Amino acid sequence: MTKAERKALRKQVKSKHTLLKHEGIETSSTPSKHLFVANAGLGNGVSRDDVDSIFNWFGEIADIVMLPEKPYAFVEYTSVDAAVAACQAMHGRKLKCPEEISTPGITFYISFMEKVPPPISIGSALPPGLIYLEEFIIEEEEQDFLEFFKTQDADCADTQKTLKHRKVKHYGFEFIYGPNNVDLEKPLEGGIPTVCDGLLDKLMAKGYIQQRPDQLTINQYEPGQGIPPHVDTHSPFEDGLISLSLGSQAVMDFRHPDGRHLPVVLQPRSVIIMTGESRYLWTHGITPRKADVVSASSTEGSQDSLTLVSRGVRTSFTFRKTRSGPCQCKFPEQCDSQKKSSQENILLPKSEQEAAQLENKHVHEVYEEIAGHFSGTRHTPWPRVVEFLTSLPDGALLADIGCGNGKYLGINKNIFSIGCDRSFNLVKICEERGHEVFVCDALSVPLRDGVVDACISIAVVHHMSTQERRQHAIQEVLRVLHPGGKALFYVWALEQELHKVKSNYLKEIKMKQRGQQSDSEVENNETVVVENGSQVVQKVSGPDTQGVGTLAGCCQENRSQTSTKTAAGQESRDSSVNESNSSEKPHQVKVGEMNCRTESGAISQKILVVHVNRTKFEQPDLLVPWHLKEKEKRDQTTVGDSKLFHRYYHVFEEGELEVLCQKIPKVRIVESYYDKGNWCAILMKENDA
Ligand SMILES: C[S@@+](CC[C@H](N)C(=O)[O-])C[C@H]1O[C@@H](n2cnc3c(N)ncnc32)[C@H](O)[C@@H]1O
Ligand SMILES: [Zn+2]
Repeated sequence: MTKAERKALRKQVKSKHTLLKHEGIETSSTPSKHLFVANAGLGNGVSRDDVDSIFNWFGEIADIVMLPEKPYAFVEYTSVDAAVAACQAMHGRKLKCPEEISTPGITFYISFMEKVPPPISIGSALPPGLIYLEEFIIEEEEQDFLEFFKTQDADCADTQKTLKHRKVKHYGFEFIYGPNNVDLEKPLEGGIPTVCDGLLDKLMAKGYIQQRPDQLTINQYEPGQGIPPHVDTHSPFEDGLISLSLGSQAVMDFRHPDGRHLPVVLQPRSVIIMTGESRYLWTHGITPRKADVVSASSTEGSQDSLTLVSRGVRTSFTFRKTRSGPCQCKFPEQCDSQKKSSQENILLPKSEQEAAQLENKHVHEVYEEIAGHFSGTRHTPWPRVVEFLTSLPDGALLADIGCGNGKYLGINKNIFSIGCDRSFNLVKICEERGHEVFVCDALSVPLRDGVVDACISIAVVHHMSTQERRQHAIQEVLRVLHPGGKALFYVWALEQELHKVKSNYLKEIKMKQRGQQSDSEVENNETVVVENGSQVVQKVSGPDTQGVGTLAGCCQENRSQTSTKTAAGQESRDSSVNESNSSEKPHQVKVGEMNCRTESGAISQKILVVHVNRTKFEQPDLLVPWHLKEKEKRDQTTVGDSKLFHRYYHVFEEGELEVLCQKIPKVRIVESYYDKGNWCAILMKENDA
């Protein structure tokens, strides 16, 4: 078998698995009239016409089935011979662009199937509570709205913002991204522009809305831009979100937490009103792409076929009515008003007992639950930790305190490594990998004083919720260390941007938007389906009402270009690994801040804030979300459900780790540095003398 043939076989096997996983359809090894063609899908930018012109060369085609967004097509011939000929000629062969296909870099991988699945159509069903009003305004009115935005665009360059994904402007109240709410104390001058009066009057008169909106956001999307899936936060806005589409059509994807997905085509001049379930429970978003899949019958051509329609510039006017009291919707799981009361009570501990309780609930219980998923995101050892481990003399005894899945335990084969961790499930994973491990608390390690030659404790001490406990954890490591032995500590840094260099924790969003693989652990509710020129991403949304990530991320931790901080204290360059698993969550609520704003106006530092992943740390003590994927098979479709956990972290400020270490007697800081968004220190235990 040649290298190319081996590759084709590998791709074919992979695509077969994908097909089975996503559609519940098995391919067949017996030649048949039905072909499954990976990389020939609408999701690859391949059109029906492309497929038709390539495949009708081999014989008469009975049917072509292409599903929205999917990176594959099904081709049915009238004879088995034609299918076999097509397979022989096209399987694993890179298509010439533009002679054979308009999209570059496409290679088809083909398998036989017993039968082809029935086509699905889009836009026929709406999520419950969604009202869709086609041609609600006439073309002249559309022009008035667009003209209005144009003047605003030119006049108000200062208040007009260009978000990464789109141009946006707010009226009535500024929409605050992050917590995704509005400051009711600060209405914007001018209110809702008068150009909207006719539309709002008509919506009121026809009874579609009962209250007149007082907040407007205008978004303008160039082709290729979109908005991540999200539910508009409940507490700031009433039921009934109105969105007027202008200029160009786009497909808005609605997703239920159980995995149901309803794409809705928003035609220009149409209005949607999200009420009830569609407003409070389903996420909505627009996938960033340059074309949409629509049923060909709604444009031209045959019934039931789907094709790509290019997007133009789309402008949307989204109207909302701000809310004064708490939301009392029927979806408490998704409701920040109703969830608030329980989350409000997560406070920074004031006593040893409270600290232990907090860590129990927000560190230990979480690691126990997420152990498998967490371990799956921790493969690559960080180079500077490896450097420390490989610098140890042969035969040395190393202890890894808080060893997680044991990724450092086998690095240096010439030393003896033992690991311990509070998480039983993680220790079990280590054991299965053949490591010497035991369960224990880092605050009380059951090893004799001075028994090990070297220690590491990587990303553990930041889980202790008081300074005393953090110091104690360091002290405990030093206790078990032999005099003259060295210990390496890593703690997550508050500074994720140092000397204008962002850690990858912050860079993650950008990388993902560019479709690059990430260095760090990201939420994997997307899977790359079949390799091709332009990587295809299959999304499966979870129930997280705050939205799911935008593009594929891989769980490689490391592609770093770390540089050192000297003991004198300069920082380093970093392309970092981080401690979170979440992708962009633009609609995450900062609980602590929000409670404070609505209640007293003063922020109580005691309330632990839920950190918005991939953003700067605003305070040292926080809860970092972890979205646990729970794969389930439903209706032959694998949906990635996710359960939300919050891990407590104390992120360290520059110098804080050193200060803490200096409090410990008989310790010398050999080196301290910044690496991958962490503050790090190598300590040496001084001899007793
Ligand atoms: C971020 S993980 C780091 C794991 C590993 N050191 C690594 O670098 O991949 C933090 C680990 O610390 C462990 N941990 C947290 N608090 C602990 C404690 N009090 N005692 C022992 N282990 C603890 C957790 O169970 C988890 O495995
Ligand atoms: Zn609600």
